[in-house]
Amino acid sequence: MANSYVQLHFAALFFLASLTIPSNCLPGLYPKAPVALFVFGDSLFDPGNNDFIKTTTTFQANFPPYGETFFKLPTGRFTDGRIIPDFIAEFAKLSLIPPYLQTGYHEFLTNGVNFASAGAGALAETNTGLVIDLKMQFKNFRKAKKHLRLNIGKRAARRVVKNAVYLFGIGSNDYLSPLTNNSSIFKLYAPQDYVAMVVGNITSVVQVIFRFSFFFQPFF
Ligand SMILES: *[C@@H]1O[C@H](CO)[C@@H](O)[C@H](O)[C@H]1NC(C)=O
Ligand SMILES: *[C@@H]1O[C@H](CO)[C@@H](O)[C@H](O)[C@H]1NC(C)=O
Ligand SMILES: *[C@@H]1O[C@H](CO)[C@@H](O)[C@H](O)[C@H]1NC(C)=O
Repeated sequence: MANSYVQLHFAALFFLASLTIPSNCLPGLYPKAPVALFVFGDSLFDPGNNDFIKTTTTFQANFPPYGETFFKLPTGRFTDGRIIPDFIAEFAKLSLIPPYLQTGYHEFLTNGVNFASAGAGALAETNTGLVIDLKMQFKNFRKAKKHLRLNIGKRAARRVVKNAVYLFGIGSNDYLSPLTNNSSIFKLYAPQDYVAMVVGNITSVVQVIFRFSFFFQPFF
């Protein structure tokens, strides 16, 4: 099951909608400190959040051979090596972006944190109860911001959030899960309406984060 899931998932890589919002691209606002990276997504980006939730082995990568080539042990990443956010963090000269649900994550918050969850989709109906869907990931982002404010103060926290880079990689599971979850969802929606729903949910989360961080609206 785990293997077929991974194969299915990687086959769906081509559908992946990956999007970054460099919110530090306003002239004159380039940060001097390294930017933080906040990551939202599914198994392509999950650094181990699903190890901390109640789910099935389909959505956990906490056994060999996962992790064997780089970390030498399973970290919860759905790969034997590193995930895309690991490489981006490395190129940005940040330390590895930790899973939000890992205990002790607070120390790393100024470098950013990763909310992604294997199997997650933009729709709450995708793998319900087994994953952290995009809206929940956004809620966790709000909690992380609160922690950040408590730890480093309001002004500094605001600067981190405003200058951060936001990385999204989600959506493929919304198209995969109805195929494995004996649901009648594809009978309920025309394909273009279903796609509009997936894209609409991604768009609304991207927009609210963009407004929070870019236009200085109150975000705490
Ligand atoms: C299966 O699909 C139905 C209908 O879309 C949804 O309500 C349910 O949460 C799904 N279950 C899982 C485990 O994905
Ligand atoms: C799928 O659901 C339908 C009706 O809800 C049921 O008749 C059918 O047996 C189910 N198929 C599987 C493989 O569970
Ligand atoms: C988001 O998805 C839900 C189903 O989970 C749907 O009812 C809603 O219309 C979607 N929102 C947008 C903006 O498309």
